[in-house]
Amino acid sequence: MTRKRVLSGIQSTGESFHLGNYIGAIRQWISLQEDYEVFYFIADLHALTVETKPEILSKRTLAAAAQLLALGVDHKRSAIFLQSHIAAHNQLGWVMECMAGFGEASRMTQFKDKSQKNGADRTVVGLFTYPMLQAADILLYQADLVPVGEDQRQHIEITRDLAGRFNSRYGTTFNLPEAFILKSGGKIFDLQDPTSKMSKSSGSTNGVLEIMDDPAKNVKKIKGATTDMGKEVRFNEVEKPGISNLLTIQSALTGKTIPQLEDAFEGVGYGDFKSAVAEAFVTYFSPIRERALNLLEDEPALIQILHEGAAKARVEAEKTLNLAYTNLGLVR
Ligand code: TYM
Repeated sequence: MTRKRVLSGIQSTGESFHLGNYIGAIRQWISLQEDYEVFYFIADLHALTVETKPEILSKRTLAAAAQLLALGVDHKRSAIFLQSHIAAHNQLGWVMECMAGFGEASRMTQFKDKSQKNGADRTVVGLFTYPMLQAADILLYQADLVPVGEDQRQHIEITRDLAGRFNSRYGTTFNLPEAFILKSGGKIFDLQDPTSKMSKSSGSTNGVLEIMDDPAKNVKKIKGATTDMGKEVRFNEVEKPGISNLLTIQSALTGKTIPQLEDAFEGVGYGDFKSAVAEAFVTYFSPIRERALNLLEDEPALIQILHEGAAKARVEAEKTLNLAYTNLGLVR
């Protein structure tokens, strides 16, 4: 029996992944590789929507690869690769741009938010066409499941719309993928502003836990997290967004359920609860950080792994691109 396919990507827009990336997405990448055929890539082309010095972009891309491996992506079972190593992403991206309406692309909330924040003149066209490249990323691998955080839901929906439109015009070509989004942990919030998502582009870094940062720095951030009125460690996202966010984090890091944690922290003050979260974070991520730093010492080995992943992925991507081109009537 052929195994179902999983695909996901992450941008290389920072030196480190943050805790939201891990809990919302990468943790699922790792568990899904047990039973699925998986394709995971670093969206280095999407990262070009943020202007970055060349030497910084390449450093970030390798740091992303090292972190994925250190977090548990197994390159023997999974294809782990760079988006820019497979030309078919751009090639099918153009086809998707020709499928998408200007209006529907204009309604993408990530584009609206970012373009409103920066103004039209400072917003690159690549940010507008970003979801169509993302659709190509997914459809090329005929993915069944796409593990992502809540903020990517709309991009998976437009992917399904574009695939459905293509299939009905040109004959069945693409599998329609499903988003795989956690109910708890699909959106991790900023520690300082627990009503906004934890994000690489957040104004201040105090609310963002970066897994490659010095552990002491993250302990300080967790201990300084905004808490709420009252004294009880209880999950209530409306009244206690700060504590609820920390409970979600603690649950993901310890494997305990939220009710179990509420019981365990009954009668414990916020300060001691935050110390426990800080301890869980350090215990969890210190060995991962060490592993990633070790992997970064041998860049040629990392690049070799990415080339091997690309070789596996390219075969699938080119098969789908060819089928799409043929069905479109492009002369082969
Ligand atoms: P990116 O690089 O912003 O984020 C990578 C993954 O982390 C998730 N995530 C979060 N989850 C929970 N809480 C948060 N605060 C949080 N912040 C980020 C994201 O949802 C994502 O799953 N467009 C994508 C990259 C991409 C992609 C793809 C993903 C390109 N092509 C194809 C899937 C399939 C992005 O910018 O993710």
